[in-house]
Amino acid sequence: MTVTDTAGLPAFPGTRSQRCPFDPPTQYTQWREAGGLQRVRLWNGHTAWAVSRSEDVKQVLTDPRISADIRRDEHLAPQMQNQPPTFPRMDDPEHARLRRMLTGDFTVKRMQALRPQIENVVNDCLDAMIAKGQPADLVQEYALPVPSLVISLLLGVPYADHEFFQQRSAVMNYAHATPQEKATANKELFGYLMGLVEQKEREPGEDLLSRLLAERVATGELDRAGAAMNGLILLFAGHETTANMIGLSTVTLLRNPEQAARIRDTDDPTVVANAVEELLRYLSIAQDMIFRVATEDIVIGGQLVRAGDALTVSLPAANRDTALFDDPDTLDFDRKTLGHLAFGHGVHQCLGQNLARAELQIALPALFRRLPELRLAIPFEEVKFRHDMSAYGVHELTIAW
Ligand code: HEM
Repeated sequence: MTVTDTAGLPAFPGTRSQRCPFDPPTQYTQWREAGGLQRVRLWNGHTAWAVSRSEDVKQVLTDPRISADIRRDEHLAPQMQNQPPTFPRMDDPEHARLRRMLTGDFTVKRMQALRPQIENVVNDCLDAMIAKGQPADLVQEYALPVPSLVISLLLGVPYADHEFFQQRSAVMNYAHATPQEKATANKELFGYLMGLVEQKEREPGEDLLSRLLAERVATGELDRAGAAMNGLILLFAGHETTANMIGLSTVTLLRNPEQAARIRDTDDPTVVANAVEELLRYLSIAQDMIFRVATEDIVIGGQLVRAGDALTVSLPAANRDTALFDDPDTLDFDRKTLGHLAFGHGVHQCLGQNLARAELQIALPALFRRLPELRLAIPFEEVKFRHDMSAYGVHELTIAW
């Protein structure tokens, strides 16, 4: 199908209602209930199959005939055509080889050990925000700095450079940025990470990048560019997503004060942990970031998908599928959330999920405990939601306490 054939197709991602911006666009429910896959028009006018039923989403994310190397479709990732692929866009076994070099840094045990440092970061950010005074933009003062500081600490990236890397990451995350703009942002970030790699070769520290250099580059398993690229992926993936979950969860909790009280007033970590899982499921912020290409003709949800066709999966739709959860449109902190898809599924399932969980489990209760009178300082109707970004959330959130 050529680009001009797509004009009559529904746009993906669809538009959410301003009345309930936490719910996926209503047409996703229709697509899911109609049972099959939906042909959609992407941001660049190109077409893909949108997959919305949980079973189909799991199939797409586990079927070896479906590739994560989106360079196979020139329209899908024009900015990547002339670049070497990164491991999230590779297939096994090469993907697994590269991913394995990082999994040890993100185990539950490692994240447990990191918790006191995350708590310090959270408390420092709260102190700074309160000292600056109200009203405040929660995104700039809290939601973004907390995960940016933590990932900088882990990687050994100087936080003083945060404006530089946050700005480039935002361009890479913006649906309407041109391929050229995305490529430039990516190149600048890569150059920055290469500089850091060279510096850490001379003066190693106690961080993930220094460890990659000592254990993988020195042995010849990875070259320096590979180490810099891994750093770039973690820096990019490690702050935008969690930041959006903190911002969006805060608005959600302010709209649901009883649920906010549940996490504020408990000293039971399992209550907080389950509340975070339910927020992850209910909000499913990865709204426009999962793309794949079929390498063979294949039937999914009764629909024939041709070799070469692009696919995108909607986690917001799949996590509201009644086949997976009862009463899925209700935010329920007592729900059994096991099996939610907010971190994806299969071999590419989020590498940083244990870190994201630890950050959310610490940052959300701390905010509501420290500021028991927390409230929106603007009408809810004026909150700017991130309809046009691959990770959903809020652009800014003016709060008072
Ligand atoms: C992959 C969501 C936080 C690093 C993914 C995927 C999802 C996701 C849905 C799968 C993409 C796909 O299948 O194409 C989230 C959410 C987060 C979060 C909702 C926060 C609430 C993080 C953090 C890090 C991280 C904190 C790093 C420190 C990665 C990496 C991948 C990934 C490296 C690629 C894994 C692979 O392809 O093997 N994430 N993520 N993420 N995430 Fe996250």
